[in-house]
Amino acid sequence: MRIAVLKETASGETRVAATPETVKKFIALGASVAVQPGAGDSGCIADADYAAAGAEVASGAVKGADIVLGVQGPDPAALAGANPGAWIVAGLDPFGQRARIDAYAAAGFEALAMEFMPRITRAQSMDILSSQSNLAGYKAVVEAANAYGRAFPMMMTAAGTVSAAKCFVMGVGVAGLQAIATARRLGAQVSATDVRSATKEQIQSLGAKPIFVENVAGIEGEGAGGYATEMSEEYQKAQAELVSSHIAKQDIVITTALIPGRAAPRLISDAQIATMKPGSVIFDLAVAQGGNVEGSKPDEVVVKHGVKIIGYSNTPAKLPADASALFARNLYNFLSAFWDKEQGRPVLDEEIGTAIRLTQGGKVVNERLLG
Ligand code: NAI
Repeated sequence: MRIAVLKETASGETRVAATPETVKKFIALGASVAVQPGAGDSGCIADADYAAAGAEVASGAVKGADIVLGVQGPDPAALAGANPGAWIVAGLDPFGQRARIDAYAAAGFEALAMEFMPRITRAQSMDILSSQSNLAGYKAVVEAANAYGRAFPMMMTAAGTVSAAKCFVMGVGVAGLQAIATARRLGAQVSATDVRSATKEQIQSLGAKPIFVENVAGIEGEGAGGYATEMSEEYQKAQAELVSSHIAKQDIVITTALIPGRAAPRLISDAQIATMKPGSVIFDLAVAQGGNVEGSKPDEVVVKHGVKIIGYSNTPAKLPADASALFARNLYNFLSAFWDKEQGRPVLDEEIGTAIRLTQGGKVVNERLLG
């Protein structure tokens, strides 16, 4: 069983799908590991560290591989030489990269999309969306604080008092919860909103104030797998009114709202931005999925009405060492959980296999892509 670790080639990608720690663990399971040279360069892992962990570091790493590990889905050409039926295990962006998925199928590979991991308790340690969103939520607040021309905490000094920043977090999933916690640690006064009413208690337990639409039909907002659903027009109108009155008083807004398989919902309009104080900062964590904020652009600081709007196309990549360490553990936790000692390879069960398998036997087989 040969496991290959790719050097990522996507622009701005700094992460790597295995670390010396996980290389050692794969070897302990009985696998051999081959790493493409320079794979850990931007994550601060030297080739020598992979070699010391027992990996072969070679440009031909993929040749003869049974499993190929990546952060993002590799170019199909980069998989030439991998064994027939090899598993491609990565964040494959199945909806955005359909042509690539078709190419994996045509080449006879079994593509496993780690972002399709079901949200069940036993798969929590395998969930790349959670591990990466958590870091992104932290980074969004730190970047917003850096761009803000004032301090976050209240300070009482001999020269006078500095008031605490008011921070509003929109979307309280994994990233939003970490954003709330980070902004609180920095000393901001934090409020937050979500369409899923279950988040109200979570917001309060982190010491922030929930801002919620009340008295509108169908406000549960929770669909399959704990994800948000698209809301009714009536709800969207009520939410826009509530946000308008609240946002005008905020210094920092962090938006994190996503709906799987769809463009990110628009939460903040240009007219709402115009009501904010000049010098305020908005960080749009959904910018790569179409953006929650009107006018936000990936990897640019857009200034509208004196308000800075920031968003990165790949926020976890701004923390390469931690993001790689957690991503790599997610992949190890996944493969080791299914490791069959007798066969010397992982064998997936029905529930998780069906959820994450995109291609098999030359065809696209995942119902989320077929439906
Ligand atoms: P996500 O990244 O898909 O969305 C982020 C947040 O935006 C969600 O809380 C969503 O409700 C919210 N949102 C969507 N539309 C909105 C709108 N119009 N206005 C305001 N907010 C809006 O979600 P994420 O972070 O992936 O988590 C979703 C759920 O899954 C959470 O309940 C989380 O605790 C749960 N989860 C469970 C796991 C497990 O059991 N293995 C692992 C990870 C998350």
